[in-house]
Amino acid sequence: MTVLEIVRRYTAEDENSTLSCGGNISFLDLQLGEKVLDLGCGRGEETLQAATLVGGDGFAWGLDITPKMIERAQDRADQVSIKNVGFILSSMEEIPIGEESLDAVLSNCAINHVEDKVAVYREIHRTLKSGGRFVVSDIMTETPLPSEIKQDPEAVASCFGGAITVKEYEEVLVSAGFDKIEILKERHYVKNGYKMISRTFKGRKL
Ligand SMILES: C[S@@+](CC[C@H](N)C(=O)[O-])C[C@H]1O[C@@H](n2cnc3c(N)ncnc32)[C@H](O)[C@@H]1O
Repeated sequence: MTVLEIVRRYTAEDENSTLSCGGNISFLDLQLGEKVLDLGCGRGEETLQAATLVGGDGFAWGLDITPKMIERAQDRADQVSIKNVGFILSSMEEIPIGEESLDAVLSNCAINHVEDKVAVYREIHRTLKSGGRFVVSDIMTETPLPSEIKQDPEAVASCFGGAITVKEYEEVLVSAGFDKIEILKERHYVKNGYKMISRTFKGRKL
């Protein structure tokens, strides 16, 4: 139900609307030749930037669950003739990339949509090489949202209802194997009367 609502929402997104909750690619410090994955890539803007930064000997994948987003991202890559990029239609709970394949993972305002966030971070851990890093921007709350909001597919699709508390999020990261996290930036705001946090943070597979 929620996945259908997410796909419906992002299929209907206007070409010019902003999807992101804050660019984070510069924090990854991508190097030539690296392999990088953008989870919930949307129209692929940051995936294409990543492909440019890693150069022809590197590769950038963008992964998204909404077919329209993948189509738009691929069209954009074709328009600008970027070849070292590929777009994957999949849920980020099961990433179709082999283990220890990636130098870096980024995700901008997408993981909050997924109910099983531990599965997502376990997949990040599995696909990263030893020493590989991730930078994520995501939405959290200060106190738990009521269950009627958590279970409202429209609220989840609007980057709101799927948010868990900062404490729960930190537990998710630890249970997936990431126990040292660096907070890079944070913004506090109120949505529908609830105190929300947009946080960008970095972790590494040791
Ligand atoms: C707010 S948009 C962000 C897009 C892009 N990262 C940006 O910053 O412009 C969230 C994206 O996450 C995708 N998404 C939601 N749930 C997903 C899932 N389970 N697996 C993969 N992508 C998902 C949506 O289709 C949408 O494109």
